[in-house]
Amino acid sequence: MKRLFVLVCALGLWAAAWAAPEVNIVPKPLNVETGDGSFTVDAATVVTVGRDASLRSVGELFAAMIEPVTGRAVKVKTAADGAKIALAVDPELGEEEYVLRVTPAGADVRGGSPKGVLYGLQSLRQLVIEGEGTVPAVTVKDKPYFGYRGAMLDVCRHFMPVEDVKAFIDILAMHKLNRFHFHLTDDQGWRIEIKKYPDLARKGSVRKETLVGNLRTSTEYDGIPYGGYYTQKQIREIVRYAAERHIEVIPEIEMPGHGLGALTAYPWLGCRGENYEVWTRWGISKDVFCAGKDSTFEFLQDVLAEVIELFPSKYIHIGGDECPKARWKECPLCQRRMKENGLKNEEELQSYFMQRIEKWLNDHGRNIIGWDEILQGGISKTATVMSWRGSKGGIAAAKAGNTVIMAPNTHCYLDYRQTQQQEFEPLGQVKYLPMRQVYALDPYEQLTPDECKYILGVQGNLWTEYIPDFRQVKHMLLPRLAAIAETGWAYDRKDFEDFSRRMRQFRKVYDCAGYNYATYFFDGKDE
Ligand code: ACM
Ligand code: ZN
Repeated sequence: MKRLFVLVCALGLWAAAWAAPEVNIVPKPLNVETGDGSFTVDAATVVTVGRDASLRSVGELFAAMIEPVTGRAVKVKTAADGAKIALAVDPELGEEEYVLRVTPAGADVRGGSPKGVLYGLQSLRQLVIEGEGTVPAVTVKDKPYFGYRGAMLDVCRHFMPVEDVKAFIDILAMHKLNRFHFHLTDDQGWRIEIKKYPDLARKGSVRKETLVGNLRTSTEYDGIPYGGYYTQKQIREIVRYAAERHIEVIPEIEMPGHGLGALTAYPWLGCRGENYEVWTRWGISKDVFCAGKDSTFEFLQDVLAEVIELFPSKYIHIGGDECPKARWKECPLCQRRMKENGLKNEEELQSYFMQRIEKWLNDHGRNIIGWDEILQGGISKTATVMSWRGSKGGIAAAKAGNTVIMAPNTHCYLDYRQTQQQEFEPLGQVKYLPMRQVYALDPYEQLTPDECKYILGVQGNLWTEYIPDFRQVKHMLLPRLAAIAETGWAYDRKDFEDFSRRMRQFRKVYDCAGYNYATYFFDGKDE
């Protein structure tokens, strides 16, 4: 019996020694084949990029990413002899597709474009960090499932300085996301300089104080003025920084609700025309842009004219969510607008509002995204719906033939808490979303194969009422953003147990970057 036991153990050891090395990449790649041996990346390793300037740029990003392992940034050269990491564009591959091949003689990263190469390098970065420099021989063939893979940051409730916005973009790049939705205007502050309307930044960005504690229970305020905005120069810097990381920035200018920052700066934008103050508490102001005055539309078009100069994105997000109709009901100008245009109710007035702005943006070569409320009073064929009140708005939009981004609060609101034991978590929203729930998102829920083609992709949203600084941003975003990234990149190959196993390695990438990520999931405390 004892002899049998020894034999079984010996066989087990033999099998372990010969088992293929584990290759843990998040999000899950399409295809992984391991080979024999390994390649070691260290300070002497060279990255070669040929004469392509944008390949040089991604090569240098990679050198900086693995510097904690190599000790100093590896050299990026046009060409080199011997073992190296060679980057190349391969026109046979799709734009976001890559092939990463590692052998004992070096590594090759081929992508359909520099963007694809960068995704290959993000995978290689993970392997370098997990193996402390030693990467097993492997061929990874990979491409994303969805074309739109995004994350939103609200900088209105709490302002994040430029360096933090750049760090947010780095986090998106690490997860192979390609859209940064930048929520720039709201009731609690307007955060982008508009040259034609200087008071937006000067007055609209400042609230006189801020609620302390929970919206439901607190009546206490801190008495401290709070503000912050991005100059146009800073916005350009952010857009350029994101573009270098192959991420498109989609700005959001909220209308017709969530506009108190603007109304405070220019009271004629509202129905009542006076007595506005940037909000000091969370929730939604009843004061919204007046839909009856042509001057409101002229203002918004002037703002958008500057916005489209700053942001080259195809899409401009124009909000549309949570617009109380009380002021419009009482406003003679809004009521006249309804009558003149044969609009039956205030929902239709909102549709009129959104479609008038959409038309202007279309005429200027852009498309709109709106939150799912834009469906309520009727929607144009060309608007993209961002589903947030669960998936139902997105499902209805796809069934109607509109394109959709799925960001339902039931799975994608990363400001919701992470566990059921909220006494261990910082002050936050009451609802909670553990990793498993975020991972469970099915963007194709209830859709026929024909309707599925309207789903552009997925997005994680980070509202910052209870997130005062960037340290807390990371705690809420990580690791749950990885679950959203996997739905976006690897929808057709998801498996939660396998994901959980890979995440235990992937957290080393967070450690290496020095990120303050939440550990509830890793400690088994999130459900
Ligand atoms: C939203 O969460 N109000 C889009
Ligand atoms: Zn009005």
